[in-house]
Amino acid sequence: MSTIEKALAKQKAQEKITEKNKLTEHAKARDEQPVQHTTQKDSIEKSSNPKQAIMLNKESLEARGFLYDATSRRITQEEFRSIKRKLINNAFGAGAKSLHHSNLIMITSSNPNEGKTFVSINLALSIALEQDKTVLLVDADVLRPSINRELEFDARNGLVEYLLSEVSDVSDIIYSTTISNFKIIPAGKPHELTNELLASDRMAALASELAERYPDRIVIFDCPPILGVTETPVLANLMGQAIVVVEESKTKIDDVKRATNQLNENLAIGLVMNKTLKSTKDTYGYYGYGYGKKIR
Ligand SMILES: Nc1ncnc2c1ncn2[C@@H]1O[C@H](COP(=O)(O)OP(=O)(O)O)[C@@H](O)[C@H]1O
Ligand SMILES: [Mg+2]
Repeated sequence: MSTIEKALAKQKAQEKITEKNKLTEHAKARDEQPVQHTTQKDSIEKSSNPKQAIMLNKESLEARGFLYDATSRRITQEEFRSIKRKLINNAFGAGAKSLHHSNLIMITSSNPNEGKTFVSINLALSIALEQDKTVLLVDADVLRPSINRELEFDARNGLVEYLLSEVSDVSDIIYSTTISNFKIIPAGKPHELTNELLASDRMAALASELAERYPDRIVIFDCPPILGVTETPVLANLMGQAIVVVEESKTKIDDVKRATNQLNENLAIGLVMNKTLKSTKDTYGYYGYGYGKKIR
């Protein structure tokens, strides 16, 4: 081993220790043990990924209705529990065999502003609360990205840079967070081709890579709405499951039908009611229902 190689090896070992200490600290903060099993995938991500982890702020997230850990609002945890169960069951249980890329889940809606990002983040955090599940949240609403805004981290290389081939290795756009089994691919910088990139061959290859390289992970894609965005149904062809967020008392039932009819027949589609009438300060109100192949 040359001196340079030795120095690099030493530096890498040091980085690993720092990373481990960081994780231990965060896990302590969350009052739980760090994840012990380091898989080969994790080491690929860490070694080629000396990037800044995304620091999540528990107080700020909880104040805005998001989950963070097992002490977060019980009602919100319960509201997401049944939706999450169905998704996990479809991803890994008996239903998985009939779905292509069953662990890839798109969150979409008929129109903008119905709560896709809100539901994406809470679903991801709810799944991450399960000790043995890792979840990757992808900001695929590249024209109106908001995961970085909601989770309060600086814009950085993400999906757009990867789709433009400015970044070649997917592990370079997967960021760790203060929650060890919660990873994020941010949207990246705005680009004039944005939504078109979602319908590219490179996006299809990325979906396959995520489904095959991380078959034991749930991957949640916060997507653009369906009506008026031709790329969204194309994106749906890459996924195994879809959640269509419906804003109660605002979304027209006709829009929901028109939107879901554009989605691939083979998807497992679920509707989530958001901002329900019974929503008050104390309950944000989410309901999963209508799981089936198609909504008519
Ligand atoms: N259940 C909810 N309770 C309170 N505010 C919500 C809820 N769902 C969404 N919001 C708020 O409504 C706005 C639109 O939601 P967002 O998730 O950004 O929509 P989309 O991603 O579909 O465009 C945001 O300001 C969000 O914080
Ligand atoms: Mg959004």
